[in-house]
Parts: sequence; C-alpha cells; structure tokens
Amino acid sequence: MRLLGIETSCDETAAAIVERDDAGHGRILSNIVRSQLDEHAPYGGVVPELAARAHVSHLDHIIARAAAEAGILLSEVDAIAATAGPGLIGGVLVGLTTAKALAAALGKPLIAVNHLEGHALTARLTDGLQFPYQLLLVSGGHSQFVLVRGVGDYERWGTTIDDALGEAFDKVAKLLGLGNPGGPEVESQAKSGDASRFKFPRPLLREDRLDFSFSGLKTAVRLAAEQIAPLTPKDVADICASFQLAVTDIVTTRSASALARFRADLPDATPTLVVAGGVAANKAIGDGLRRVAAEGGATLIVPPIPLCTDNGAMIAWAGAERLALHETNGLDVSAKARWPLDSADMGRVHAA
Ligand code: KG4
Ligand code: ZN
Repeated sequence: MRLLGIETSCDETAAAIVERDDAGHGRILSNIVRSQLDEHAPYGGVVPELAARAHVSHLDHIIARAAAEAGILLSEVDAIAATAGPGLIGGVLVGLTTAKALAAALGKPLIAVNHLEGHALTARLTDGLQFPYQLLLVSGGHSQFVLVRGVGDYERWGTTIDDALGEAFDKVAKLLGLGNPGGPEVESQAKSGDASRFKFPRPLLREDRLDFSFSGLKTAVRLAAEQIAPLTPKDVADICASFQLAVTDIVTTRSASALARFRADLPDATPTLVVAGGVAANKAIGDGLRRVAAEGGATLIVPPIPLCTDNGAMIAWAGAERLALHETNGLDVSAKARWPLDSADMGRVHAA
C-alpha cells in the first residue's frame, strides 16, 4: 500500500509518500519538508497565526511535489493520512481539511493521525523494529517516556511537569542572545565551553519517578547569566556547556531508570530504547544515551535526524500501520489541539 502523509501541526509544512509491503516493511518514496524558520525568526518563536497562513500558502504545492518525486499520481495512493493533533490548531486544521478534501475527491480512506504516534512508530519504518519498546520523545513541545506495546497501545511512563527539553534549549539560547531554534546553537557553543564552571541543578532527579522538570534549571541559568553580565563569549560557551551537561545527566539518569523498569515489567522482551524528536540531534545527549544503553544491555535506536524532527513520512507511516489494521476515520473526524498518546480515543487497535 502507498499513502500520502500530511504534517502541519507546528512550523513545518510537510508531505510524503510512503509504501508498506505485506510483510510490514516500509519505504519512503518522497519526503518534502518546508521549514518556516525564516517567517518566525523575527519573533524569536513560532507565531501560530503566521504558521497557519504559511501552511495555507504552501501545502498544496508541497503535496504536489511529494507525488511528483515519488513518481505517482495522487489518485494512485491507497489512503490519505494527516496529523489531526496535538498541535497548533490553525495549522492542524489546514492539513486535516486538505486531507479530507483529497480523500473525498479521490474516494480514498482518511486516517487522522496522532502526531505523537507518528514519532512513536518511526523506528518501525526506519529499522523494522518489533513491539514492545521504550520511546523517549524529546522535542520542542514534548518530553516523555512512552512504552510502545503496539499500534494504538501506549503507556506513558513519564512526562515533563513544565517545559519540554527542546523548549528549555530554546529559552536558554534566547536569554543568552543566541538564535532560534536554540538547540543547535547551544550545542555548538557548548563545544568550546567549560562544563564544570557552573553547577546547575538537576530538578526532580533524586525522586523515584520518570518525570522531567526543566523550568528551575532554566531559571538557574538566567540567574547565573545575570550575575556575571555583561557576558563574554567565553561566559556564553561555559553556560551552554554547563547547561548541556545538566540536561544530559537528567536525560541519561532517567533513561537508565526507564530501561530498568522495562526489564522488570517486560522480562521476556528485548530492552530497546528509541529516541525521537528534534533533541535527538544533540550529540552529547546521544552519546550519553548510547552509554546508558550499553551499560544496561539494551539496544539504542535513533532514527536518521530528518525523520526524528517533524516530517510527513512519519505521518504516512503511522497511517499505513493503521490502514493495515483496517483502522480508518470518517470525514467527520475533528482536529484536536490536545491529544495525549495514552488517551482513550487512541484506541488499543493492536496489542503486541
Ligand atoms: O521535533 P522538533 O523538530 O519539533 C517539534 O518540537 O515538534 O524539535 C524541535 C526542537 C527545538 O526545541 C530545537 O531547539 C531542538 O528540537 N533541537 C535541539 C537540537 N536540534 C534541535 N536541541 C538540542 N540539541 C540539538 N542539536
Ligand atoms: Zn513533533
């Protein structure tokens, strides 16, 4: 089967054509992503109304390009999948409404995909991974551990009680006067910095739970920066390195605990940790997770970075997994600004 996938939940307008064979193997035929970074740059963050307008302006030709690069006509796809949430509602509506129009006009099934399910199932597209596995999703909007048991069968083991990890990188970058998105800027500054200069807190780390908290750390960074202002380039690099070391500590310690719980709760399964979301691009965090996985006898899977960040292929693939289980949606399905992965309306379509 071949699916068109549409993603418009944040600041990427994306469409892809993905193929899934009867054995469950996936192949990406095209994957077009148009980032809106330039539109939002003057505002230091994503402006929802501008995002929705840009999706309106660009989605049609991004979809046409996805079909052209895959060498097929849209009438040749087996279904249309689109992100139906969670996300910025204006953008989600643009993508979902376009998908409904295409589904109605072409007489194809529609699949309303949970964006987080797209991230959660990507490792099955890229690595043919079997259920169950432990997912660490770290993006600009989410920081969570999810046990992925099957399509639609998710158990959230931990989440952030305040900022998402990518958001923490972005806010630290902003207060240091670095560009947006902040993650890559902070990582690049950290390379030449002294990570031992500032002792930033590791919030919640002593507690026996799998949740995250990053806002206290961000405040500690702000206070440290204010104390030594005006900042020299070396100060900025040292703050970035010390901050990155603190979050790496937090993420690796938590991931070790999540893997320990995985082994205890699922003694017959192969311990596997999958990382997804834009922060997966961070090399220091990736190296830390590789060490934790090796120490715990677990396999670490990090899909290629363009498939960790928002894209249409993950939405097409999640749609394909649902279509293979005969799970489709009516044209009356609504967009959702909030839609947790473990909510009842995800449907437990398949237990592993
Ligand atoms: O998954 P993503 O592309 O978009 C969503 O949030 O859905 O993630 C973007 C986030 C941003 O907060 C960005 O700063 C962060 O991922 N990020 C990084 C790095 N590259 C991107 N954070 C740390 N280190 C990086 N190298
Ligand atoms: Zn995302």
